[in-house]
Amino acid sequence: MQSEFGDKFNHDPWAARYDENVKNESHPIRAGYAAVLDFVAQSCPQTPGAKILDVGIGTGNLTSLLSKEVEVVGLDLSQEMMALAQRKLADGPPVTYVTSDLLAYFEGEHPHFDGIISTYVIHHLTEKEKSRFFDYCWQTLKPGGKAAFGDLMFADLEARQQAIDKFNAEGWEEVALDIDDEFFWLVDSAEAQLKAIGFEVSTRQFSELSWVITAEKPH
Ligand SMILES: C[S@@+](CC[C@H](N)C(=O)[O-])C[C@H]1O[C@@H](n2cnc3c(N)ncnc32)[C@H](O)[C@@H]1O
Repeated sequence: MQSEFGDKFNHDPWAARYDENVKNESHPIRAGYAAVLDFVAQSCPQTPGAKILDVGIGTGNLTSLLSKEVEVVGLDLSQEMMALAQRKLADGPPVTYVTSDLLAYFEGEHPHFDGIISTYVIHHLTEKEKSRFFDYCWQTLKPGGKAAFGDLMFADLEARQQAIDKFNAEGWEEVALDIDDEFFWLVDSAEAQLKAIGFEVSTRQFSELSWVITAEKPH
């Protein structure tokens, strides 16, 4: 199964300016980007030889923060983004690049992993697709493995509506439109779903819109 909006959110058209854009943390969507990536990387198992899946590796900013001694599979729909990652990560950990829709990847033959990490990707999946993604993470992590997701999120539906109203009132209509157009996570719902699957879950907020959820699969 391909994700419904994969073609729309393939970042090929934005690749050339992506790294410059994420540095602008005065924009509400970008605020917290560097801290989120740092925290997700720190949350990821990094023992020598650990196998890590970076879902939506993009230009490689998250994987560039990992130990050189882990082995990474980086998957993304965008070949343009991954071409930049390949250059950036030449001296980083070994990376196998896979061009694929992320749901399709989990449905094909693939290894098991010690860690699954992803930043600013899963908000491109519908709520139903997110649930499927959580199940795939559980099936794909080794016992004792850990997932860490940094992304655009709201505590709950009420917080989402308050944010839309606030951004519209403050002249950030483009942010309010993005919230409507994409599928920012609801932390309460994601946390409940991950716990129901069996994960041990923690959440942390880094900016108005950016959070990290970690999900550990017990031994
Ligand atoms: C906002 S960028 C984030 C890139 C990187 N993880 C980071 O934190 O800088 C989102 C990335 O997800 C990829 N993407 C979006 N939908 C996808 C899907 N369904 N399957 C695989 N990759 C997808 C895009 O091509 C893009 O590279």
